[in-house]
Parts: sequence; structure tokens; C-alpha cells
Amino acid sequence: MTFPAMRPRRLRRSEGIRALVRETRLSVSSFIYPMFVCPGTGVRNEVASMPGIFQQSADQVVEDCREVEALGIPAVLLFGIPEKKDERGSESYSATGIVQRAIEAIRKAKLKLVIATDVCLCEYTSHGHCGIVENGEVQNDATVEVLAAEALSHARAGADVVAPSDMMDGRVGAIRQTLDLHGFEQTAILSYAAKYCSGFYGPFREAAQSAPQFGDRRGYQMDPANAREALREVALDIAEGADMVMVKPAMAYLDVVSAVRERFDVPVGAYNVSGEYAMVKAAARNGWIDEHRVTLEILTGVARAGADFILTYHAKDAARWLKGAQ
Ligand code: PBG
Repeated sequence: MTFPAMRPRRLRRSEGIRALVRETRLSVSSFIYPMFVCPGTGVRNEVASMPGIFQQSADQVVEDCREVEALGIPAVLLFGIPEKKDERGSESYSATGIVQRAIEAIRKAKLKLVIATDVCLCEYTSHGHCGIVENGEVQNDATVEVLAAEALSHARAGADVVAPSDMMDGRVGAIRQTLDLHGFEQTAILSYAAKYCSGFYGPFREAAQSAPQFGDRRGYQMDPANAREALREVALDIAEGADMVMVKPAMAYLDVVSAVRERFDVPVGAYNVSGEYAMVKAAARNGWIDEHRVTLEILTGVARAGADFILTYHAKDAARWLKGAQ
């Protein structure tokens, strides 16, 4: 036999062959597009550190949702920037809160989009922490009560999926119980099961105006050095009733995505967060990288690691690029 017998390059010779043997097929149907809802009408403020991403009033969110749906993206994730913040984050569970009104407006527009909502208090509290603070510490069980009320009010407004991102212990179980008790047994829970205390959330805190006013989130979000702990967190959330779980951020945590995928059978998502988006945008603007190529490479990597769905600010751009590639 002539040397070498195996020539892997045979299967790389044309786009046709490469397409045929491609192991990971990135699809628009796996994207969830995060959006920031703010008060007012006709408001559309671009987030400085996240070019292409806006704080938008509910009417604008509806228009954007039409575009998202037309692009084939199946779901959005809503974050609220309330009119006023207080110690308890009480706007988060108000029937007339910012997210609740946005959900109703999207529903009224008769869109087919899956509406998921971020359930957390950091955007709603005056101190910017993800829970009720007493004696300088975030109180777990008191916070869980408020989160359950917030999730219920999102479900009442018409959310299909509630996504708790606070990292309090026992919140998934409490939310499940509260939803069921009030007849929302069909509302799904996507838990931010393994959410790390990450520097990659920087731009988001500008977008959501949710930076903590003192201290940091190390007392509730996970230590970036821990992977086994993520598996314990995921196991707990599934036992408490999470329908889907998420690892966040994505790029620096692909080993965790892969380990969670391997170990559990529920759908697994990865959140390609604000800082990951901002880095790509900044480098692309400087002409240092090819944005289209790098973005699809990142999203393919996240899918290859095992994510069934990806929450990403690139969703609309990526949807357009994927369409162009067909
Ligand atoms: C709220 C929340 C955060 C993000 C999602 N939900 C911020 C944080 O925990 O500080 C980050 C999203 C992103 O960076 O894109 N707790």
C-alpha cells in the first residue's frame, strides 16, 4: 500500500464534501435572543459596550420581536429595567411591571415566539444585589419567596418559560411549587443552574443597570475554578423540577457544558454572555478579526461542546449569516 493509506484531507476537498461530513450543524432553531425592556414608548437606546443591542420600551420590543420571529429564531429572553428600584425589588413582581407589560404586548401582537423571562432581583433592587440584603448579606430564603412571586407574575402575564438567574438555594423548587399551586403547571423552568461569578457580565450590568452598589456576587454565584460543583448544582435543580438547565458564561466554561451534557438528559443551554459579545464586537470594529467568521466559530464551538440551545446577543446576525450560507 502506498503511504499514507489514510488521507483525511480527502473529506475536506470541497464545500459539498465538508458539508456532508460536518458533525455539528449550527441552526437558528437553537438560538434564544436576550432583550432589555425599559420604560416609556418609542425608546431605543443602544448599549455603548454592546453595539447592536438596545434598551427598548415595550412597543419597540414588539417590533424587534417581529424581526426575531421572521428570522426564524424561536425564543426571546426578557430582562427588565424598572422605573424605580427599592430594597426588596418590588417592581419585579408587580402585575404592571416592565417585563409583565412587555410580555402582554408581545402576546397581543400574536407572535409565535417562545417568551422566556429572566427571574432575578438585581435589576430591581436599589443595592443591585440579586436578593434581599440584611446585615450586609443576601438572605437566601427571604429572596426565594420574592423570586417565586416574580416568576408567578411573569407566568400570569403570559411567559412560557421562567429562568431564575439568582443562584439562591432551593429557588427552583419554590418556583415550581408556586406555579403549580396557581395553575401554571405548564410554565417551564429554565434554570441558570451553573452560573459563575464572572467578569464577562460587565457590559450586561451597563445594559441592565444592575451593578452591585457594594461588595460582589461571590457569595452566591459560583467560583470559576469549580466544575464538579456545577454538576451538583445541576443535579439539585433537576431534582427540584427544572425542565432545562443552563451553563453561564459559555466560552470559558465549555468543559462544564460538555460535562453537564454527558451526565444529564435534560436539555442543556449555554449563555454566550455580554462580555463575550463585546469582545467580538470591539475586535471586529478595530478590524482585528472577521466578525462573521469568528461569531459562527464561537457558536459552533458552544454547540459542539454539547449545548442544545444558545442564548446569544449574536442571534439575529448569526441567523442572517446562516441563511446566507444555505
Ligand atoms: C441577572 C443576570 C445577569 C446576567 C444574566 N442575568 C447579570 C449578573 O448576574 O450580574 C448576565 C448576562 C450577560 O452578561 O449577558 N442576575
